[in-house]
Amino acid sequence: MEQFHVAIDGPAGSGKSTISQNVSNETGWQHIDTGAMYRAVTYWALKLNLNLADENSYEFLNKIDIKYLNNKVFINDIDLSSVIRSDDVTQNVSLVSKFSFVRKKLVEIQQNLAKNKNIIMDGRDIGTVVLPNANLKIFLTANIKVRAKRRYNEKLNNGQNVNLDELINNINTRDKKDSSRIESPLKIADDAVIIDTTYLSIRQVVEKIIEMIERRRK
Ligand code: DC
Repeated sequence: MEQFHVAIDGPAGSGKSTISQNVSNETGWQHIDTGAMYRAVTYWALKLNLNLADENSYEFLNKIDIKYLNNKVFINDIDLSSVIRSDDVTQNVSLVSKFSFVRKKLVEIQQNLAKNKNIIMDGRDIGTVVLPNANLKIFLTANIKVRAKRRYNEKLNNGQNVNLDELINNINTRDKKDSSRIESPLKIADDAVIIDTTYLSIRQVVEKIIEMIERRRK
């Protein structure tokens, strides 16, 4: 049977990564979290102390090796998965990901990862740019308070100090930047199925997606 590509897009906190990972566990298909790649590039640029606002700074991408393997992201074979969720990276990743030079590099890697494979890929531009011919496109949404509360609980569980209002502000700012950038902004693909996860459990969303995959594979 031909390969099956699932594209899952949506704003911060809409449940993309958790839901994609659950769909991946059920189908046995690889999950690729493209946000992790933008975060890894941001981490690296911060580490190199570069001027993040200058597109020329990202020429270092021509000299490094970025890999995504077994749900982990690597630069030059260093596993960055545990350092890419820091506040510093989160606050700067929308700036880094607006540059077309950065996007071109990462989109190429993402398209190669999807070649000849069944895949579940999540991000902001998967259904619109990375996999425009995906067999199933999902756009996840949820109300801002619910999205912020999810992040709040995640951070509390990790023992981090958090303020809910601050999180709401940060998520709103990031969504605005991600949706208003010129280069492949966060937007709903014309042929995407929109799922509002505000009042749904993870399980309910996963079941809906699995049903859609089964229907489309028949
Ligand atoms: O999914 P996430 O919150 O880890 O993503 C971090 C940032 O990366 C997000 O704010 C915008 C950017 N991103 C992007 O521009 N395109 C993608 N396909 C995935 C993420």
